[in-house]
Amino acid sequence: MIRRILIAGLLVSACGGNDPRLVEPSQIAGDAIPQPLTEAPGDTHRGKIVFSERNQGHCVLCHVVQGLDAEFQGNVGPDLTYVADRLNAGQIRLRIVDYQLVRPGTLMPSYYRNHDLYQVGEAFADAPILTAEQIEDLVTYLSEMKAHQDE
Ligand code: HEC
Repeated sequence: MIRRILIAGLLVSACGGNDPRLVEPSQIAGDAIPQPLTEAPGDTHRGKIVFSERNQGHCVLCHVVQGLDAEFQGNVGPDLTYVADRLNAGQIRLRIVDYQLVRPGTLMPSYYRNHDLYQVGEAFADAPILTAEQIEDLVTYLSEMKAHQDE
């Protein structure tokens, strides 16, 4: 039993270095990733926390969301208060995953990428900044940011 657990652990760590791409080119359509990255749907409340907290996404470093209770909100990136009026969920997902695909050289970090065609040898090349779950929580949270709600 213990031996099995050990072997499983070794397999997991051995695969860590050369994972296939987190997002395959076939998942990308135009400037969007239409399908969610996880089976379970994202959660708005958790998305808000990922967005705000320093030890998570810390998106408030560069983005303002009006009415959000966060200590500090930067303005390096666009105001995201009504981002869902401009972008659909798939477009928001691609921008968080890897904005470089939309605009090479953008200041926005790529939050879910384990390869780097632009800067080979980047320090964290095989460790994405956020998990697939955190990306989906953010997509769900931001997809609700409309001036006029649908219902
Ligand atoms: C270092 C600054 C920085 C951080 C941190 C950052 N962004 Fe951005 N973001 C930008 C910039 C700059 C743009 C505009 C992209 C461009 O045109 O280059 C942008 C654009 C966007 C857009 C598209 C907005 C639009 O109106 O087109 C979304 C969505 C977005 N960011 C979400 C996020 C989320 C979610 C996080 C946290 C996980 C985050 N950003 C963290 C700088 C940042």
